[in-house]
Amino acid sequence: MSLRLGDIAPDFEQQSSDGPIRFHQWLGDSWGVLFSHPADFTPVCTTELGLTARLKDEFTKRNVKAIALSVDPVDSHTKWIHDINTTQKTIVNFPILADADRKVAELYDLIHPNASTTATVRSLFVIDPAKKIRLTITYPASTGRNFDEILRVIDSLQLTDSHSVATPGNWKDGDDVVIVPSLQDPELIRKKFPKGYTAITPYLRLTPQPNKP
Ligand code: BEZ
Repeated sequence: MSLRLGDIAPDFEQQSSDGPIRFHQWLGDSWGVLFSHPADFTPVCTTELGLTARLKDEFTKRNVKAIALSVDPVDSHTKWIHDINTTQKTIVNFPILADADRKVAELYDLIHPNASTTATVRSLFVIDPAKKIRLTITYPASTGRNFDEILRVIDSLQLTDSHSVATPGNWKDGDDVVIVPSLQDPELIRKKFPKGYTAITPYLRLTPQPNKP
């Protein structure tokens, strides 16, 4: 059965380009981004892995560890990483799971037989420090992911976990946010949102992002 939001991300032990990994232990108290690739030595994946490496500081700032997966063995990953480093002008600074026995692919439902019986789909999971799955996205093999969007969703999750807000469509860090409809107590609203808010309708109340100066 496929994994759903709020499910605990399945734990596993698997080989990787950085040695064997016990997933939950490796995550520790961090957020995680686990993302799968159709195969090694594929052009779109090469750009995605390069992008992820170059975004290291952005992931670190948000307490996020990235980990990739493809169903090829470690020696193949090692050769591919050399290509990625050279062509994408970066250093791959995160592990790539070597899921040759498809252990993780099966746990995370990454083979979609009507798309391909052998290659993993281009899926991505955001996992929080409680090991809960907070975002799942699956792209077609021919479309590379937008990692700015992944960072944007992580910003939204981290913000909305700690304040009584949700983020509107196309929101980005620093934009106004909406006060959750369940919050109705005027005194509490004043306390939580000292900068005030604008009620466009009784249920659409905009307020400046509360964790910004
Ligand atoms: C790629 O990852 O580069 C790719 C995979 C399947 C089809 C086209 C591109």
